[in-house]
Amino acid sequence: MAQFSIEDIIAAVNDLPALPQVVLKIMDLTQDPRATAQDIGNVISHDQALTARVLRMANSAYYGYPRKVATAAEATVLLGFSTIRSVVLAASINDILNRELSGYALGVGEMWKHSFGTAMASRHIAKRCRFKAIEVAYTAGLLHDIGKVILNNFMKQTYHEVVAVATTEQISFLEAENRVLGFNHAVIGSRVARKWQLPAEIVEAIAFHHNPAGAEKNPLLTACVHVSEALCTSMGLGGGLDGMLYPISKNAIELLGLGGQDIEDIAYELSDVMIELAQGS
Ligand SMILES: [Fe+2]
Ligand SMILES: [Fe+2]
Repeated sequence: MAQFSIEDIIAAVNDLPALPQVVLKIMDLTQDPRATAQDIGNVISHDQALTARVLRMANSAYYGYPRKVATAAEATVLLGFSTIRSVVLAASINDILNRELSGYALGVGEMWKHSFGTAMASRHIAKRCRFKAIEVAYTAGLLHDIGKVILNNFMKQTYHEVVAVATTEQISFLEAENRVLGFNHAVIGSRVARKWQLPAEIVEAIAFHHNPAGAEKNPLLTACVHVSEALCTSMGLGGGLDGMLYPISKNAIELLGLGGQDIEDIAYELSDVMIELAQGS
């Protein structure tokens, strides 16, 4: 049995830093119709590390702009408000996701790759399915496994137990977490999202990313994240040992109206992202 309680985990969630002030400010501004790219650029440029990351992303091969983007305001014009919002969020939680998650047998950077890949796949699917809020899908994809970061600290002692249960019972890590710990990374992740005051539909998508049938507020968004993660896993951007035991929900694919050709196209587009990730950019 686990040597710690749900209270221990909740306390760990509470210890997690709030999203930096600058990120909250950008989130507000990018949703304000009166805000200009210059306003947003000004806020970003007050944070040197954030500016560097925004420029690096704007200049990355993925966006394919022919000339160099030199200022945060310019990056905002080129990428658009909603993309800049997800870029800023991604940059600010990059450090959290880049840690080694030894409890899940994930090396440094692996969680970042899995999360970023899922976010990119979510964006592709959201575009394909003509979602109104494409960047919400990106954010939900990026954060879907954030609960693992929290649970990892506790998993160190009980990891072998979770693996043993998953292997002998032939069940997913999620179910094994439930058996050994009494809760799972999806539940803990949704708590983190709530603490960060993210929209309720993102909280839900994180909570149900392995069980999309449970979503009520925005089943399409949850289905999108579920299918994206499965696609990433099948392409090798998996979550380590935890990647292999999750069945993909046929209902989720149907709900999104994706055919075999769509899945192939999205996988093809994703291979560009994977090349970029492999190059470490
Ligand atoms: Fe995942
Ligand atoms: Fe997960």
